[in-house]
Amino acid sequence: MKKVVFLALFALSFAKPVIDPPFADRLFSYIHYTETWAGTPAFLKDVTTPNVLILYGSKEDPEIVALAGRIAYYLGQWTEDIGFGVEEIRQSRMPELLISDAGLKDKKPKALIVVGVNNQIVKDLGLSFEKPTIRLIKRDDMEILIVGGADKQQVLEAGRYLADVRLNFKVGAYRTFFSFVALRGHIEKGEFDAAARVIKSPMGVSACGKNMAIASPMVAQWPEELKAIVRYRNNILYSELPKAIEEKDKEKAINLWKEAMLTCYKCHQGIEVPQVRKFKPVESIHSKHQLIAESFGLVKTVGNQKSCIACHAGPTNIRGYGN
Ligand code: HEC
Ligand code: HEC
Repeated sequence: MKKVVFLALFALSFAKPVIDPPFADRLFSYIHYTETWAGTPAFLKDVTTPNVLILYGSKEDPEIVALAGRIAYYLGQWTEDIGFGVEEIRQSRMPELLISDAGLKDKKPKALIVVGVNNQIVKDLGLSFEKPTIRLIKRDDMEILIVGGADKQQVLEAGRYLADVRLNFKVGAYRTFFSFVALRGHIEKGEFDAAARVIKSPMGVSACGKNMAIASPMVAQWPEELKAIVRYRNNILYSELPKAIEEKDKEKAINLWKEAMLTCYKCHQGIEVPQVRKFKPVESIHSKHQLIAESFGLVKTVGNQKSCIACHAGPTNIRGYGN
C-alpha cells in the first residue's frame, strides 16, 4: 500500500520557475540555530529559528499577501521557535516574521524574502521579470530572495513553488535527517521505545520520501536503479528496522541503520547510481546533525580532533562541505 501511495505522488508535478543564480532557492539561509528565551529559566541554545523576514508590499494584491503567509507557514514548520531573544525581552514583544515594506523601515535583517513586485524593495532595485522567477540579490550584507514574475499569475506560480516544493521539501528532509540521526542514538543507548516512537511519528523519518517525490518533477523520469534505492530504503525504515527495534535486537538494528545511511550517500554523492542531489548542503544548517550525534555520545573527541567514524566510515566516510 505504502509503495502505491509513494509512486502515485511521483505524478504530481510543479512548474519550475527561473532560479537565478541556479540553486539559489536551495542554498538560501532560511533558518539558523540560536539561543532563545535568554535570561529566563526557559533558556535554550541551538534552537531552529527563522533567519529571515518575509516582506510584501503594503499595496499588494491580497492573493500575493496570502502567498507570503503560505511561505511563512512552511518556515514555521521548519523552525522550533520564532527566536525570542534578549532584544525582545527588553522590548517585551514577539519577533516579527511577516512584514510589509512600510514595516521594514530601519530593520536590517540578514536575509529577506520579498514576495511579489509591487513593493519598495523591487522598485528601489529597479527589477523587472519576464517569467516566474526566484532571484537572489546581495545588497549591504543582506541576502534578498525575490519571488517575482511578469504578472500576478506568474508571481503566484513562483511563490507556490518556493512554498509547496522547496520549503516543504526542506522541512521534510531536515526533520527526517535529524530524526534519523537521533534514531541511531536511541538504538545505541538501548532506548527501543523512544526509537520506535521516532519511526512512527509524523515528525520523524517518514517525512522524507513523501517530500522527495513532490520536490522533483524529475523523479518520475528517474531510472529504475534509483527507484530501487527508494524501495530498498523504505523497506528498511518502515519494515525491517521497526522489526529489529521491536525485538530489541541492537546489533541488527545498527546494521540496518547503517544500510539505510548508505542509501542517503548513494543518491547524494552518486555512489553506483547517478548523483541526484546536485549541490552541497549549507553547512550552517546541515551541521546540526553533528551536535545531535554528539549529544548521544556518537562523536568522540580524540586529541583535539572530532571522530565521526561511528557513522562516517567505509563508503560513507565522505564528510566535507567544501567542493
Ligand atoms: C533516492 C535518492 C535519495 C535518497 C535515498 C535520499 N535522498 Fe536526501 N536528497 C535527495 C535529493 C534528490 C535531494 C535534493 C533535492 C533538491 O534538488 O533540492 C536530497 C536532499 C536532502 C536533504 C536536504 C539538503 C538541503 O540542504 O536542501 C537532506 C537533509 C536529505 N536529503 C537527507 C537524506 C537522508 C538523511 C537520507 C537517508 C536516510 C536521504 N536523504 C536519502 C535524494 C535522496
Ligand atoms: C549518528 C551518525 C552521524 C554522525 C556521528 C555524524 N554524521 Fe555526518 N552524516 C550522517 C548522515 C546520516 C548523513 C547523510 C545525510 C546527508 O548527506 O545529508 C551525514 C552527512 C554528513 C555530511 C554531508 C556530506 C555531503 O556533502 O552530503 C557532512 C559534511 C557530515 N555528515 C559531517 C559530519 C562530521 C564532521 C561529523 C563528526 C563531527 C559527523 N558528520 C558525524 C550521520 C552522522
